[in-house]
Amino acid sequence: MLRVCLAGATGWAGSELARAIAPASDLDLVSAVSRKRAGQKLGAVLGDGRLAAPIFASAAEALAIPCDVFVEYTKADTAKANVLAALEHDAHVVVGASGLSDEDLACIDTVARERGRGVLACGNFALTMVLMQKFAEMAARYIPSWEIVDYAYEGKPDAPSGTARELAARMGKVRQPELSVPVEKTIGLPESRGARLSGTQVHSVRLPGFVLSAEVIFGMPDQTLTLRHAAGSSAKPYVDGALLAIRKVSTLVGVHRGLDALLDP
Ligand SMILES: NC(=O)c1ccc[n+]([C@@H]2O[C@H](COP(=O)([O-])OP(=O)(O)OC[C@H]3O[C@@H](n4cnc5c(N)ncnc54)[C@H](OP(=O)(O)O)[C@@H]3O)[C@@H](O)[C@H]2O)c1
Repeated sequence: MLRVCLAGATGWAGSELARAIAPASDLDLVSAVSRKRAGQKLGAVLGDGRLAAPIFASAAEALAIPCDVFVEYTKADTAKANVLAALEHDAHVVVGASGLSDEDLACIDTVARERGRGVLACGNFALTMVLMQKFAEMAARYIPSWEIVDYAYEGKPDAPSGTARELAARMGKVRQPELSVPVEKTIGLPESRGARLSGTQVHSVRLPGFVLSAEVIFGMPDQTLTLRHAAGSSAKPYVDGALLAIRKVSTLVGVHRGLDALLDP
């Protein structure tokens, strides 16, 4: 039985994951985190009597109940502190929340390695996104120039999305994209060329009407290639990947990014 603490268990993504953990015979959800629902049982909040986990207002309080895996599904501003607290309690960690920077992950990696614990950070657990990442890496080997456009609903607080960050980081390891005009030599407004992440220009659109989608646009003379991922309005696409991460994260040491760290070890 793997004991799991789920931070963000009452949220859009976390509640869907909690409902999937409930019937799993190898997983035991022992504690949950949510400020507004602290003091209640998760099952009472989600309408699922199988979820007996108590809810705490902070990860620090929830971690007083021993767990093997801590799942971080809250928000960018709390994610790093929660992950470090979980590592201090010798839990392995699955990070679903977006917004952690490369520097944050480097700091977490140091602590995780010191404690011999695994951290799987995945900005998008959907299988279709895992495939898009692989196709993007493949294309980056042949096409020297690309940019990313990240689309999300108007209220998404973090930008770029975890998905866009992860795509940029992975393609940046294949090679650095070529720019004919360096951004700093832009005539007009250099910021209109987007933010640079791991060498890639990333443009974030936040508007009503979008859910979550991402495009990588590759360009060569007289031809373009667009890879586009779009998710619907439910959090179901993220459940299977997150369950796999919970079950396998203990096989890792240090920070690993993306679900394929577990699919193709
Ligand atoms: N990796 C993936 O595949 C994937 C998929 C979907 C979403 N995400 C990311 O996951 C994160 C959560 O997204 P969401 O749409 O589920 O958000 P959400 O619906 O707003 O849920 C956030 C959850 O975290 C809790 N929370 C927020 N701030 C907290 C704090 N300071 N202390 C304790 N609990 C806190 C909330 O409860 P209270 O408000 O009661 O505290 C709630 O349970 C975002 O970063 C999102 O980008 C990732």
